[in-house]
Formats: sequence, C-alpha cells, structure tokens
Amino acid sequence: ESTLGRAAAQSGRYFGTAIASGRLNDSTYTTIAGRQFNSVTAENEMKIDATEPQQGQFNFTAGDRVYNWAVQNGKQVRGHTLAWHSQQPGWMQNLSGGALRQAMTNHINGVMGHYKGKITQWDVVNEAFADGTSGARRDSNLQRSGNDWIEVAFRTARAADPAAKLCYNDYNVENWTWAKTQAMYAMVRDFKQRGVPIDCVGFQAHFNSGSPYNSNFRTTLQSFAALGVDVAVTELDIQGASATTYADVTSDCLAVPRCLGITVWGVRDTDSWRPEHSPLLFNGDGSKKAAYTSVLNALNAA
Ligand code: G3I
Repeated sequence: ESTLGRAAAQSGRYFGTAIASGRLNDSTYTTIAGRQFNSVTAENEMKIDATEPQQGQFNFTAGDRVYNWAVQNGKQVRGHTLAWHSQQPGWMQNLSGGALRQAMTNHINGVMGHYKGKITQWDVVNEAFADGTSGARRDSNLQRSGNDWIEVAFRTARAADPAAKLCYNDYNVENWTWAKTQAMYAMVRDFKQRGVPIDCVGFQAHFNSGSPYNSNFRTTLQSFAALGVDVAVTELDIQGASATTYADVTSDCLAVPRCLGITVWGVRDTDSWRPEHSPLLFNGDGSKKAAYTSVLNALNAA
C-alpha cells in the first residue's frame, strides 16, 4: 500500500495525525493529511478550555470543524482530552474540592454527550502522574480533589458514551524501567481488578534527548496489553526523526495484537508543537522525509 493509513489497515490498525483547525485552509496540509492518514486527533480543539470556556457553556465550534473534516474525509476520530491539569479554562483553574469534582463530571458529560457514538477512543484522563522517580501522582487541583478523581472520571465517561473506548494517556511512560511507567501500570492493574471501566492506555511517545526511545517499549506495550487493555501510540514525534527509530516504534505496535494504531503529533515539521526538533514525517514544504518511507515500509512488512 502507498499511504500510511491503508498500509496500517492491512493489519486492522489505523495511522493517524493530530489536526489543528487553524490549518484546515492550507491546501498542502489538507492534501497530505487527507491522503496519508485514516485517524484524526484534534490537537487542541476538544480540550477543556476550548469546549467549556465559561462554566456550563459549551462551545464545539472548533472541535466540530476538526471532527467534520475528519469524517468527510473518511477518518475515525480519537477524542482528546476530558480531564487534565493543563489547558483548563480560568474558571476551572480557580475551582477545588467538591465544586471541581462536580465541574469535571459535568464537563465529561457535556463533551461526551455532544460526540456520543462518534468517537472511537477518548483520552478520558491525561498526564496524571509526576515525572521523575517518585512514581507519585502529579500535584494538581484535580489530584487535590481526592485520589479517586481518575476512577470517577472513567465511571462518568462509561455512562456518558458506552460505545467509546476509554483511555488513560500519558508521556514518559514508554520505557518499562521508569518509575512513572510502573506507577501507571499499577493503576491500570488496580482498575482492572476492581472493575473500574478502562479500555485502553495511550502512550504519547514524545521522544527526545531527555526521554529517548528504548527498545523495551515493546515490553511496555505487551505488559499493559496483558492486563486486558488495548494500547495505542497517541502523539508520536521523535527529535531528529530518525528513520530507524520511527520504524522501531511502528514495529513495536505491530508486534502487539492489542496495539490499535499510531498517531503522529502533526503533519509537517512546521506544524509541530516543537518545530526546532524537526520531529515529524513531512518537511515544511510537504515533501516526505526518510522517516516517512521507513514507517510505510514497516507497515507494509507486517
Ligand atoms: O489559541 C491561542 C491563540 O489565540 C493565541 O494567539 C496564541 C498565542 O500564543 O496561543 C494560542 O493557543 C496556543 C495553542 O497551542 C493553540 O495554538 C497555546 O498558547 C499553546 O500553549 C498550545 O499548545 C498546545 C499544547 O498542547 C498546550 O498544552 C500544543 O499546540 C499541543 O500540540 C500540545 O499538545 C500536547 C497534548 O495535548 C498532550 N500531550 C503533550 C502535547 C505536547 O505538549
């Protein structure tokens, strides 16, 4: 197959990209995205600050722009993200305790209700663990509302849209030996044992010099899958875009039957949140990089 999406579909997987609504009038961007990918994640447009800018007043204008473009172009949509310490609107940043808990569940119900039945996977909770060696939860207003905030979010999400796969999503959790990875593993194991509704774990896979790819990523994916959840690579980008590393990540997903697919975090290097790393599969002029070819070959070799 000659596109990433069709090559991934040979094994029942998807190959997706983040889409920014502000770039949908750039025809170079839409031509590449429309042809190469078969899954879409809104880069910012379904986040809390975008969808509930004033408490109780939902706004889906930008989210729907991304959603409609995706569906009109034959792509599935991953939802990102419902409960997160970052990109909270000002009103939410000022909440705590029971009022914040109520606002969180109301937000999940509002956004998942709007997209009910339309989203394949939702990142219900994003980035709840601390970096470093502590293995602790990240400090945030959500965490201070009570350690059970994550399971409350998942139970609320299951009721709001029973058709969506419910994911926990984080970064720096690809290396099996890292404390953050083990902390996330213990949480997912506990959720499965206690019947908290979780269906998938998203590995963002923002690889860089401080958090480099390690071949034990495959062990990580296999270990989580063995707990009875699906796994996905949700925000892939690699500093310097080594063709070998891109192929390795692709092969790691393909080696794990419960790996649903891969999403790269943008189309061209100039679309990236960190363009100075040139971390993506296409150059700023829209031409294919070596990493593109290595990913396509890895997908076709499966
Ligand atoms: O929309 C405003 C615009 O009105 C304003 O003029 C402009 C001035 O700076 O800012 C615009 O908002 C920016 C937004 O992207 C949209 O471009 C924010 O400042 C900027 O902080 C925001 O960055 C996003 C970042 O998440 C915020 O946390 C990146 O685009 C997005 O790629 C990044 O994505 C995250 C994932 O959601 C979670 N995992 C990590 C990943 C990378 O940080």
